[in-house]
Amino acid sequence: MPKSNPNSTAIILAAGKGTRMHSSRPKVLQTLLGEPMLAYVISAITPLFNNPPLIVAGHGASELEKAFPESHFVLQAEQKGTGHALGVALPEIPESICQLMVLNGDSPLVTTAILEDFLSRANGADLAFATLTLSDPGSYGRVYRKNGKPSAIIEAKDYDPEKHGPVSGEINAGLYLIKTQAARELLPALGNANSSGEYYLTDLVELASKAGLNVAAISMGDDNALLGVNSPIELAMAEEILQKRVIAEKLASGAIIHNANQARISPFAAVEPGAEISGPCIIFGKTSIHKGAIIEAFCSIKDSEIMENAHILQFCHLEGARVDEGAQAGPYARLRPGAHLEAGSRVGNFVELKNTRLGKGSKANHLTYLGDARIGNGANIGAGTITCNYDGRHKHQTTIGDNAFIGSNAALVAPVNIGANALVGAGSVITKDVQENELGIGRSRQQNLPLRKK
Ligand code: UD1
Ligand code: CA
Repeated sequence: MPKSNPNSTAIILAAGKGTRMHSSRPKVLQTLLGEPMLAYVISAITPLFNNPPLIVAGHGASELEKAFPESHFVLQAEQKGTGHALGVALPEIPESICQLMVLNGDSPLVTTAILEDFLSRANGADLAFATLTLSDPGSYGRVYRKNGKPSAIIEAKDYDPEKHGPVSGEINAGLYLIKTQAARELLPALGNANSSGEYYLTDLVELASKAGLNVAAISMGDDNALLGVNSPIELAMAEEILQKRVIAEKLASGAIIHNANQARISPFAAVEPGAEISGPCIIFGKTSIHKGAIIEAFCSIKDSEIMENAHILQFCHLEGARVDEGAQAGPYARLRPGAHLEAGSRVGNFVELKNTRLGKGSKANHLTYLGDARIGNGANIGAGTITCNYDGRHKHQTTIGDNAFIGSNAALVAPVNIGANALVGAGSVITKDVQENELGIGRSRQQNLPLRKK
């Protein structure tokens, strides 16, 4: 999508504590389908503007900066309300920027499409804000109009039926477009004489309309893309909506998903048409699942690459792993960061790999730990093999050559090399290299002794 709006930029308000979430974690770092709320907001906004959004951080600011190291932040050290947050951001805005889109950071369902729609309809107003019509206005700010024109937003906490009259069901969605000049002029006039003692951004509506500026309330119907998330219930509801949305998108693009309502797939994960997935499963992070790959039920896959026609059997756990064409893992395999199954290789039940490459066609089918290892092609790793990669201080490498055969229950004490076509006897503790075509045995010889007669 081409970037437009060269003289505009976006501000994300993300400094609030999120008291209603009852969590020490900053609210915008709460996750949906494995990604923090803020990631959704940033990714929806980014295509629209030349400049990256400016994020107002406060509560847990250092955690936010750590989670989004490439984003631009401004610190709202004391969180005195959304109007105050905008006031903190303004001095950071270059003179050339004449229009600001301001969005609450707790809107994880937002999409680029809805922001574009709002922008095109809001253009020209001095201050525009998006509204939703809900059957229950809940904790949202209520929109008041005079002769059809928006005149004020009354926060839920400050709403008094006698003073303000009946509500219409039209609420403030927390998305604004404001001329920078108007923001600079109006913000100093905000007061905090309200039930929260905060400077409300929403009071700009009344100020602007009294100042005779062009104020527009842009109705977005009941689109759930602008729902705010303040509590665990709202987080769960938003995650549910997102889950359905992602599944619908992946199905429409041609992915095959069984038990789809129990498949939890991050929108940031790529699932190619013709990939086959079964729920319940978790597919999070920057995972990509290629055509013809099969992911059976009860798998958890994060930041991993599953190539064409690879097969992940039930109950596997993958993180930062790569499974090449036609390779197979599971049931009950664990592939940790740096695990790489080359084409046609197999790992079976209760096998754990970390930072290990298993060469083409090689097998480790049962009860094995392979850490910091390079394994060639066509090797067979017997049941119960352990690479002893840690000496209590440092990690060491194990290499195993092509077509080597490691007998069951071998402990390979790293650093150690097993040559191509070598054989390691079952039950060995191997502390010295075994050369190509050699047999390495490191265990005491069996003795059969006569039993004592009674
Ligand atoms: C706000 C609006 C309300 C609207 C609703 C939409 C105000 C006063 N009210 O209410 O009209 O219906 O959003 O979802 O704006 N924040 C800061 N600094 C602060 C306080 C808040 O950056 O000092 C951030 C929060 O992190 C959050 C956003 O602003 O992302 C909105 O704050 P929140 O407390 O959630 O406002 P609501 O009560 O939901
Ligand atoms: Ca909110």
